[in-house]
Amino acid sequence: MDLKGKDIITLEDVSKEDIEFILENAEIFEEKLKKGPLKVLEGKILATIFLEPSTRTRLSFESAMHKLGGRVLTVSKDEMTSLAKGENLSDMARVIEGYCDVIAIRTPIEGAPKMIADMVSVPVINGGDGAHAHPTQPFLDLYTLKKEFGKLEGLKVAIIGDLKYGRTVHSLAYALAMMGTEMVFVSPRELRMPDSIIKVLKNKFGVEVEEKTKIEDIISEVDVLYMTRIQRERFPHESEYKKMKNVYRLDSKLMKNSKEGMKILHPLPRIDEIAPELDATKHACYFSQAHNGVPVRMAILAGVLGKI
Ligand code: NCD
Repeated sequence: MDLKGKDIITLEDVSKEDIEFILENAEIFEEKLKKGPLKVLEGKILATIFLEPSTRTRLSFESAMHKLGGRVLTVSKDEMTSLAKGENLSDMARVIEGYCDVIAIRTPIEGAPKMIADMVSVPVINGGDGAHAHPTQPFLDLYTLKKEFGKLEGLKVAIIGDLKYGRTVHSLAYALAMMGTEMVFVSPRELRMPDSIIKVLKNKFGVEVEEKTKIEDIISEVDVLYMTRIQRERFPHESEYKKMKNVYRLDSKLMKNSKEGMKILHPLPRIDEIAPELDATKHACYFSQAHNGVPVRMAILAGVLGKI
């Protein structure tokens, strides 16, 4: 498998074999880390350009780079103001490519990571662009599912919440389709998975997806509930967000009808969609899922830098 020099902009840039390769190497790195930090990326530099809030994605990329012996440069709030001064993002990226070996970028502008990737010579990893895609998140989601269930094929995953604006679920749907995992989408009608994505799932992967509006209708038949928040910042009007904000809330009452061994995942941050009373149950996987971001992003970084 050769990921060397590859940009990771959408899930369409990777194959099933690439996914399997990353998951295998993440497992190897997780095991090796138990003996201490590694030197695989010694002398290499990651630049993180995060122009939208981020905790998990940026910090797990940075932690992954540190644990591999590499170094990190990050664009701070002050430097972001140079964008406000009128410097454009492409000039900024052209400058930064001369300072680093790989770039991880998050922007509110859909398509900007692709534009940057086409312009610079170092590999570019999309850490989320607007409501479009977030291609590294599904790797840690799949890694978590594999750890919990020992397999991906044959599982049934309900993807729940804001499927219109949620970039993580756009990327996750492709990844699950590639891995042969069954899906059911649960959302209000106004926040359905975009038809463009449903079409690709059907035409490219032969996946027919069920769509529902209520968690109650699917909870007894799925292995996984993948919860997501309503993406407030993407709504054109706050009043529309307010109508949707409390549409789903998972609590112990609702969980009574769940399948034995059912797991709850969430890319985080959560707002109110999972009651904290579920955090201590055997169903909750969302914190370990966030922690899995480190070995998975270690494998991604080492992969694009040609070190695995
Ligand atoms: C997500 C994101 O930024 O898209 N968070 C993450 O990266 N784990 C999900 C979200 O913001 O709802």
